[in-house]
Amino acid sequence: MKNKKNILFYLLLMSVLSWMNAQEFHPGEIWKDTQGNPINAHGGGILFQNNTYYWYGEHKDKTNDARIGVTCYSSRDLYNWKYEGVALAVSNDPGSEIVSGCIIERPKVIYNKKNKEYIMWFHLELKDQGYKAAKTAVAVSKTPAGPFVYVKSYNPDAGHWPLGFKEEWKHKEITEGDLKGWTPEWEKEVQEGLYIRRDFKNGQMARDMTLFVDDNGKAYHIHSSEENMTLHISELTDDYKGFTGKYALIAPGGQNEAPALFKKDGMYYLITSGCTSWDPNAARSFRAKSIWGPWESLGNPAIGEDAETTFHSQSTFVLPVHGKKDAFIFMADRWRPKNPIDGRYIWLPLEFQNGRPVIRWKDHWSLKDFK
Ligand code: DGJ
Repeated sequence: MKNKKNILFYLLLMSVLSWMNAQEFHPGEIWKDTQGNPINAHGGGILFQNNTYYWYGEHKDKTNDARIGVTCYSSRDLYNWKYEGVALAVSNDPGSEIVSGCIIERPKVIYNKKNKEYIMWFHLELKDQGYKAAKTAVAVSKTPAGPFVYVKSYNPDAGHWPLGFKEEWKHKEITEGDLKGWTPEWEKEVQEGLYIRRDFKNGQMARDMTLFVDDNGKAYHIHSSEENMTLHISELTDDYKGFTGKYALIAPGGQNEAPALFKKDGMYYLITSGCTSWDPNAARSFRAKSIWGPWESLGNPAIGEDAETTFHSQSTFVLPVHGKKDAFIFMADRWRPKNPIDGRYIWLPLEFQNGRPVIRWKDHWSLKDFK
């Protein structure tokens, strides 16, 4: 009798708990953490480690300046997220590159097995300089939720030419006129490495970025470079804290940002957006047999109503769901530049049709919807 009561109590408790727990995604709606506060992790990326997902993102408030830093949330089921705190805090030291008021965007974290370290990279713009610095920066922690310790910033690949860069392009003079944009002559100059030459000595520009770790442990940093005209994919050193100097160009002159790279059945896929500041535009997709390219353009992966604005959002990450074959989540931001803290998260299933990634809108959905 007592046993029966216990079982009944247990079943009741479980059903109340599952009723309290989220079991679905609701793209675009306010998404609360387990304490009931709206999740504040924009331009985010996810690391799966110790059977837990860690979501890192930009803490935003009334402006886009970094006043807090990079936040971290953890989850076992991808619906319910526990706030883990500030993984990387901005500094109060006016001499620090990450002083409060700088810009920190699109943080991503990867795990370095060799050194047992968590490595965070993010797009960094120095305080009061707008988007001029175009840097990427690295921070390190021994635990997933941090605190991460700031290491340094980079303009990547200083003193190195990309793969396939023609000998004759290396020695071309740059004249003032060359840098004046949007003429056919200028476009040709861009294709022939105008900005790569300009930034050769001090390092290349790096704005929107992501990270990717391949099956063999090699890690790559993918970033919008050359005044956002061309994406660069750069190999990271074995400790993931620096650049080896080996890099390649993706879609030269194609104006791609918001890169998200993933792999399926040995093929590499890349989702990007065009460059329209905080306004959404049509996403793009690419695939390649080798990470070094050539990258084949596959067009807009978004399908249906509002596909031309990627459902009013911009890509930030593609998450392979652990333990489910061919289940990928397209993660994007619906920016609210007038009130950045109210930016929304658009998570949608990414599926494949005839070898192409496709994303369809869903008002609500769950992992069970993956076939
Ligand atoms: C679009 C980028 O994707 C964002 O991360 C941010 O840098 C804005 N541009 C700034 O205008």
